[in-house]
Amino acid sequence: MRGGKPAVSRDLRVRWPVIGAEEREAALQVLDSGVLCGSRAPQVRALEDEFARFVGAKFCLATNSGTAALHMAVTAAGIEPGDEVITSAFTYPSTALAILQHNAVPTFADIDPVTFNIEPGGIEERITSRTRAIMPVHIHGLPCDMDAINAIARQRDLVVIEDAAQAHGATYRSRMAGALGDMAGFSLNATKNLPCGEGGLFVTSNERLLGRAASLRILGQSRDEVPLDPDHPLDSQGDSEFSGMGFMYLTQEIPAALARIQLRRLAQSNANAAANALLLTSRLSALPGVLPPHCPADRTHVYHKYRVRLDPRAMGLSVDPRLARDRVMAALRAEGVEVSLWLDRPVPEMKIFQARTGYGGGCPWTCHGSDVRYGVGEFPRTTALLADSFVVGSQSYPLFPQPRALMEQYADGFEKVIPRMTELLGSGAS
Ligand SMILES: Cc1ncc(COP(=O)(O)O)c(C=O)c1O
Repeated sequence: MRGGKPAVSRDLRVRWPVIGAEEREAALQVLDSGVLCGSRAPQVRALEDEFARFVGAKFCLATNSGTAALHMAVTAAGIEPGDEVITSAFTYPSTALAILQHNAVPTFADIDPVTFNIEPGGIEERITSRTRAIMPVHIHGLPCDMDAINAIARQRDLVVIEDAAQAHGATYRSRMAGALGDMAGFSLNATKNLPCGEGGLFVTSNERLLGRAASLRILGQSRDEVPLDPDHPLDSQGDSEFSGMGFMYLTQEIPAALARIQLRRLAQSNANAAANALLLTSRLSALPGVLPPHCPADRTHVYHKYRVRLDPRAMGLSVDPRLARDRVMAALRAEGVEVSLWLDRPVPEMKIFQARTGYGGGCPWTCHGSDVRYGVGEFPRTTALLADSFVVGSQSYPLFPQPRALMEQYADGFEKVIPRMTELLGSGAS
């Protein structure tokens, strides 16, 4: 900021997603095959088999987005219009939109301030006679406390849908995210640890739920089990009955082929993210008032996002946390450290979840008689997190592909900036 030499040489950064010769080759092979799409097309089916095996679930359906996979799960759960689904106040809006898309009502619970995941006690407080499901979100790649959540669900006969959009390969008590509830939705968006462009994966081990989700995926048609005839890849001999409301959520062969290549690299890429996080955490935790993310001993974190909290009081400063955070980010950026924000308010405070007259004029909040509504400040732990924290890395330069040398330089940047907080805050500090 003063014109000196930045701590970070930006040419060390690796931009995400990493696309190499294998991806190019796979895309060309799809083009050469002449089969571009289809629920029984070879790349789509192979991806589904490989991902189900990877997660340790029986079934997988590839979709064209993570939101579609979550919407399929909400529908498959047998939720009726106006029923309530409890989810986290700290998530991407898609989680709650997938609930609204089925004319159900999202109700939100606050987070645990250490893991940033939905807090099981908060779930219990939100349960009403209309609650049908819980949708925990493994935020930033750290699994939720699923034994506690599943115990609540069992007691009340609720369905558990994991939003695993950010958590490919993360584990809880040695089991993979995606195999910890009744169903799960993953995203394959280009920003994710497992990217293909746009895409998603629905996962379950329950055949009944699979059938319902499959029907929603293709316009309400039942799942086509007749094997593909390679000579007629666009023709089907399957059931032509349309028995339910459906959407067109199929993915295509090129994205599926790309996801298969990326899946082979996922373990190594997640391991690199964990090693980078370990390095950052060991150096940043030595700085007063800097709180690196915590991973409980019974889980593995895949660091889709590495979020750092700041505690100005622990730095001996009496200052608005948001101001301290903003000044630190500006100084880190000047040092070349890649830092970013992700969302600026709890999801229930966003307009769509506040409005009673939105949603095409027929908002389910009113038409189903729901009285669920949220005031600003009702989620103090999420609000505090979003004021005093930021992400190290960005969606274009996340932690997973970066070399260790870059992480050392990021830590150098923090060590240069944090001791100068008083100077950075100027008249804002007391
Ligand atoms: C927590 C969470 N849930 C759901 C989604 C939706 O995934 P997609 O963008 O593939 O629809 C995302 C993606 O950004 C996400 O981060």
